Amino acid sequence: MLDNRIGILFNASMLRGLTRGRTRHEAIEYYEEAAKRHGVVPVYFRLEDVDVRSLQVTAYVRRHGMYTRKRMTVPTVIHNRAIYFRSDSHVKVRALVNRGIQLFNQVNRYSKLTIHELLQRDPALVPYLPDTVRAVHSNLLKMMERHHSLILKPASSSVGKGIMKLDRTPRGWQAMYPVQKAAKGNRWRTMESLDHALPGLIRSRLSRATYLVQQTLPLATFRGRPFDLRVSVQRDASRNWQITGIVGKVAPAHTFLTNVAQGGTVHTFEEIAASSLPSFPFHKLRQRVSSLSLLIANHLSQQLPHLADLGLDIGLSPDGTPLFIECNGRDQRYSFREADLFTEWKLTYENPIAYGASLIYEPQYAPPVNVH
Ligand SMILES: Nc1ncnc2c1ncn2[C@@H]1O[C@H](COP(=O)(O)OP(=O)(O)O)[C@@H](O)[C@H]1O
Ligand SMILES: [Mg+2]
Repeated sequence: MLDNRIGILFNASMLRGLTRGRTRHEAIEYYEEAAKRHGVVPVYFRLEDVDVRSLQVTAYVRRHGMYTRKRMTVPTVIHNRAIYFRSDSHVKVRALVNRGIQLFNQVNRYSKLTIHELLQRDPALVPYLPDTVRAVHSNLLKMMERHHSLILKPASSSVGKGIMKLDRTPRGWQAMYPVQKAAKGNRWRTMESLDHALPGLIRSRLSRATYLVQQTLPLATFRGRPFDLRVSVQRDASRNWQITGIVGKVAPAHTFLTNVAQGGTVHTFEEIAASSLPSFPFHKLRQRVSSLSLLIANHLSQQLPHLADLGLDIGLSPDGTPLFIECNGRDQRYSFREADLFTEWKLTYENPIAYGASLIYEPQYAPPVNVH
């Protein structure tokens, strides 16, 4: 009998939520529905519960609306939704892949610098990438010569955490930095310095973690606030990359971060485009954003191990040029829900399942696995 299980790999906290019916942003119901439609059975587990040698795992399976634990062999196809920060976890994931398991989205968090360096190798992508370098002293000085506004970002952070901004003033530079973590968003402070001397506080933050320094992109605005787009790019049942959905994220007043976790608000791309770039035919704009996103996904998936599911942050310049901001390996997907784009939201769950089902049902066409 054909083994039609699809593994869904979660971090421990998410798996605890599953058994309690509280998985926060992860909409388990959509995995279950999609699995039914594609003739597969989802089984959920943590990496800790996998024994690589015997290829046995203790996983949760839904039965009569309840999740029950079951000892079983490791499924041959796994959708990774976990992020690992420890190298022993990465070693274990690689061991599974080496045993022939098809685990997609093998690594879910890359350094922003790694992604930038990979993208820069493709000349077709270079015009869409912000000038970006590691934030060491000599690079900072060069970037201050070249640009009048700079963004400082931790290389491996997310949801807008730790990001700072530098703006040229008539006398020197003004730094804008967050001072405290509030429940929603940051409180911002500014500090001015003369010439190229950065305030001590900024220098000390830069020394505590790896940061990158990037030109501030000239982003188009919506009602006077900068916005960018979350583009879900996924492989579907055809195994090709396609655009699942696009949603706009708008920064709160007086700041520059569009992250929903930082108080950003979501709007449909149509609404934003009609107001911000009214002279531009919407279908053309969407086409530009989609082509760039597909180019990025295709390029990255040739360089990184088994990618199938990305959430890109793409900005638009006031003349309608798409600009790359960030590539998320584990898209949280909820910005589609926030914007009432329920069809797209559901599809972000369905496509990985459809892709996984295609690997189960037609294994002879499995994508080439990059060895790293
Ligand atoms: N170079 C840039 N120019 C203008 N805005 C930027 C730039 N980089 C980041 N931002 C803003 O900051 C937000 C967060 O940056 P991002 O690179 O996506 O990091 P994170 O992983 O924290 O989401 C972006 O969605 C965008 O609103
Ligand atoms: Mg982002």
